[in-house]
Amino acid sequence: MVAALPLDIRVPILNAPMGGIAGGALAAAVSQAGGLGMIGMGSSGSVASLQRQLPLVPAGVRVGIGLVDWVVRKEPGLLDLALDAEPVVLSVSFGDDVDWISRAHDRGVFAAAQVFDAAGVERADAAGADLIVVRGREAGGHGRPLADRDALLDAAADLTSRPGLAAGAIATAADVRRAMDRGASGVWVGTAFAACRESLASPGTRRALIEARPEDTILTSAFDQAAGYGWPADIPERVLDNDFTRRWADGVEGAAAEQLAAANAADDPRGMSINAGLGVGELREERTAAEVLAALAGESVTGHAS
Ligand SMILES: Cc1cc2nc3c(=O)[nH]c(=O)nc-3n(C[C@H](O)[C@H](O)[C@H](O)COP(=O)(O)O)c2cc1C
Repeated sequence: MVAALPLDIRVPILNAPMGGIAGGALAAAVSQAGGLGMIGMGSSGSVASLQRQLPLVPAGVRVGIGLVDWVVRKEPGLLDLALDAEPVVLSVSFGDDVDWISRAHDRGVFAAAQVFDAAGVERADAAGADLIVVRGREAGGHGRPLADRDALLDAAADLTSRPGLAAGAIATAADVRRAMDRGASGVWVGTAFAACRESLASPGTRRALIEARPEDTILTSAFDQAAGYGWPADIPERVLDNDFTRRWADGVEGAAAEQLAAANAADDPRGMSINAGLGVGELREERTAAEVLAALAGESVTGHAS
């Protein structure tokens, strides 16, 4: 039997905590529409940045918060601030330390652990994670590209009775249904929400996401190296392939940092890191988070099941 989500939500859909994309406005919109919104603090996450996003969530609207392990170590106070905000769910992704799970539990907060292989499922299960985010290599953004999503969902069904959230290239109602039929208790969706009206994405990023075809993504660490971020070497990111990824495919040199800074300053997608999963081809227009959520849930925009 598929485990029920411990969350009081109408549709079993969470937006992934996307650094630089999922701020308070997007998270609030997803929660208000009946899913669970997550605020993401990514590579440039900070106490100041979380303090800017939290007030964008209206009083009474509950959201979750997602952090990144190496950023939490670098930013004293970020984890405390996240817990003080009383999120419904906390995730701290991309590290091996699981202490944050008991810290979340001490505060009555559910812990969502993102995993990349069967061993990760077992570790998250043993550490007491309330939700196991089963992330396949199809997914946008960072992750260890170790397993296909469906194979990992099958493995998780054998290894844990805890609720699993399918992650990676979930972009349509059919994708959601297939993941649930395969044993997922819900879905954790990034790319499909990235170009929403409420997201923090720049105009250039939105345009590139909407124009991209499914075959336009690539795994790379070039942006992280150019930016000097502290990502472990075995955790690349899935991004839109562009001039930058092609130029620095064999390793970055000093000029890469300048190219990246110039592209960011000019909002030029040809040189920016635009995280996207294999479902990016389904993005055709800028929509509201409520419209994306309804489409994923297979509902009409008025909220009735189709
Ligand atoms: C734009 C973007 C930013 C992301 N940033 C984060 C992040 O800050 N923290 C995190 O745990 N995961 C992050 N992810 C990964 C998501 O948690 C999730 O694994 C992924 O979005 C699921 O695949 P999908 O994008 O194909 O839906 C990001 C993904 C995207 C697309």
